[in-house]
Amino acid sequence: MKLVVLTGAGISEESGVPVFRGKEGLWEGVRPEELATPAAFLRDPEKVWRWYCWRREIIARARPNRAHELLAKMEKEHDLWVITQNVDGLHQRAGSRRVIELHGNIWRLRCPSCGKVWEDPGACRSIPPRCPRCGSLARPDVVWFGEALPAEALRRSFELARQADVFVVVGTSGVVQPAADLPFIAKNSGARVIVVNPRRTPHSRIADVFLEEKASTGMEKVYELLQNKGPA
Ligand code: APR
Ligand code: ZN
Repeated sequence: MKLVVLTGAGISEESGVPVFRGKEGLWEGVRPEELATPAAFLRDPEKVWRWYCWRREIIARARPNRAHELLAKMEKEHDLWVITQNVDGLHQRAGSRRVIELHGNIWRLRCPSCGKVWEDPGACRSIPPRCPRCGSLARPDVVWFGEALPAEALRRSFELARQADVFVVVGTSGVVQPAADLPFIAKNSGARVIVVNPRRTPHSRIADVFLEEKASTGMEKVYELLQNKGPA
């Protein structure tokens, strides 16, 4: 049985990482669609970097929660892949190895001029940071609105969605494409779909099982369901 799990910001909410589309997720009242764009970075790189540094501080203090831990545990017991829209690295910190990052990683930087990519763990030192090779302004190695997703990660994610026997969707609002398409592709390819979210989303309509609750308790139930061979 092939299990594929798509995660979004909601899975890290109980770790104290704010989601994007909730009042409490907003930073200085700015919507992510206005900040996480190439145009915003050109206009005001320092402002964009202040947002990322604020998020990095929160993520550095956060710990993986029960939902991340259960996924790491399930990877040892099932043929399981995690496709995440999150850039926080909490799946890997919980021990997951089969993780596909669709939107990049906040602990990696990239130089738009020379293409250098490098790891930059820890707190932001000076902002905006510069490329150590060519001195240009560096950006977070994440995907912004209007940008293409990493091609291989995207190809693999669509392939996994088509192959899945069970497709679990945890903590995503399902409004950002192309990730939001994956559960529909899985469903159309014959997978059973389980959705974990305290709110209804475009995915809850196609769910075979809709667990209307937070990620930690929802994932406990998913774990139990799969022990008993799936959400019949
Ligand atoms: N457990 C599970 N789900 C939760 C929890 C929780 N504790 N708290 C909130 N949620 C749900 C919300 O109901 C919402 O549906 O998590 C979802 C969070 O939605 P978004 O903030 O839109 O996050 P996400 O879907 O990951 O956003 C997609 O948008 O800004 C971009 O690139 C960014 O990857 C991100 C993408
Ligand atoms: Zn450079």
